[in-house]
Amino acid sequence: MPKPISGFSKLSKSEKIDWLLDTYFTDKNQSKTLVEQYWNSDKKLQKLHDEFIENTITNFYLPLGVAPNFKINEKLYTIPMAIEESSVVAAASKAAKFWLERGGFKAEVISTEKIGQVHFTYDGSFEKLETFFKTVKPKLISDASAITKNMERRGGGILDIELINKTEDLENYYQLHATFETLDAMGANFINSCLEQFATTFKDEAEKILEGNIEIVMSILSNYVPNCLVKAEVSCKIEDLKSKDINNPQLFAQKFKQAVNIAEVEPFRAVTHNKGIMNGIDAVVLATGNDFRAVEAGVHAYASKSGQYSSLTHCKIDDDTFRFWIEVPLALGTVGGLTSLHPLVKFALDLLEKPNAKELMQIVAVAGLAQNFAAVKSLTTTGIQEGHMKMHLMNILNQFEASNEEKEKVVEHFKTNIVTHSAVVDTLKKLRQ
Ligand code: MEV
Repeated sequence: MPKPISGFSKLSKSEKIDWLLDTYFTDKNQSKTLVEQYWNSDKKLQKLHDEFIENTITNFYLPLGVAPNFKINEKLYTIPMAIEESSVVAAASKAAKFWLERGGFKAEVISTEKIGQVHFTYDGSFEKLETFFKTVKPKLISDASAITKNMERRGGGILDIELINKTEDLENYYQLHATFETLDAMGANFINSCLEQFATTFKDEAEKILEGNIEIVMSILSNYVPNCLVKAEVSCKIEDLKSKDINNPQLFAQKFKQAVNIAEVEPFRAVTHNKGIMNGIDAVVLATGNDFRAVEAGVHAYASKSGQYSSLTHCKIDDDTFRFWIEVPLALGTVGGLTSLHPLVKFALDLLEKPNAKELMQIVAVAGLAQNFAAVKSLTTTGIQEGHMKMHLMNILNQFEASNEEKEKVVEHFKTNIVTHSAVVDTLKKLRQ
């Protein structure tokens, strides 16, 4: 068993790698992968990446792909997607093209409110706490003015602060529940700084005038943002759904709607259905330098808002019209954070023609809807494996270190044959005999 190490973070990058190799690897060539293959030769760029986090030893690449032909509110976008899963970008591109020919996507931002809370305990009477809160509320806001003044100048800031009594759930537990408008910033730092200032003022003032003891437990934004909501939708006449792989549009529409209805009522299916949506959402969130963990957490909480985990997308057939939409909470930023630091994030935002946060919310929601459309369309027609395995074919070939010539021959063979892992291996073996 390796010995614990102290002062690891103080070692240089090379020393860290040496320690890892000495401690965990017999094959010292591993350092080639880390250093020769993955360190960037541009020293300035490498240093930038090194300093994003602590204890960086190398870079971890994901492919950055693009899905063109997304018509959103009459504007045409090519959407950047950072993702490793083979079929996601292809599916997004296919869905974009399909809907481009049927009027495109419509998207609208419903609300943009963010939330943060100061969690505290208090052992006195609620009436006294309430009276104290009313007196101190203006000071909570004014004491935060150094933090809020720039945001306010741009039209954002603190929207409200409420005192919430949670003592029925947990003894002596209360909150300052604050709402914010953070405009084009995701706002995590802004919100957390405001909350910590609220907590300081609240505790200081309480010590002067309030009977009873207040203990601040923590001050932190919430990644559950049900009032930071965007909706994206597609619709067309059912007969217009007819296409190369939809022969019977009426049957397709019915089956598609049935699949969405199943995800609405059946949590086991809903989780996978929403996972497919997140394939699209996360890929764009990541490419644009946003926090996909925050988005994931908030989206899944929203999917459970009724008390049962359910689908984020919905489908309706009104007479002869097919309608398919998503409603999803997305706290995104197009300024601050990685947006001006990471060269590829800058590229991604430039590619999207420098969207503001609201436009990015719409683009990301559309990417989720498109992904879900592609998945449910495949699932209810050909099945998912046909397209999935075709895209996965290259991964299998790379795993067996196929040459370019072998790849060409195998890809040609599987244009007319079903791709399975063993069929690919057999074909490759035969070629190599
Ligand atoms: C795979 O990454 C995503 C799907 O499973 C989504 C779905 O089932 O709807 C294909």
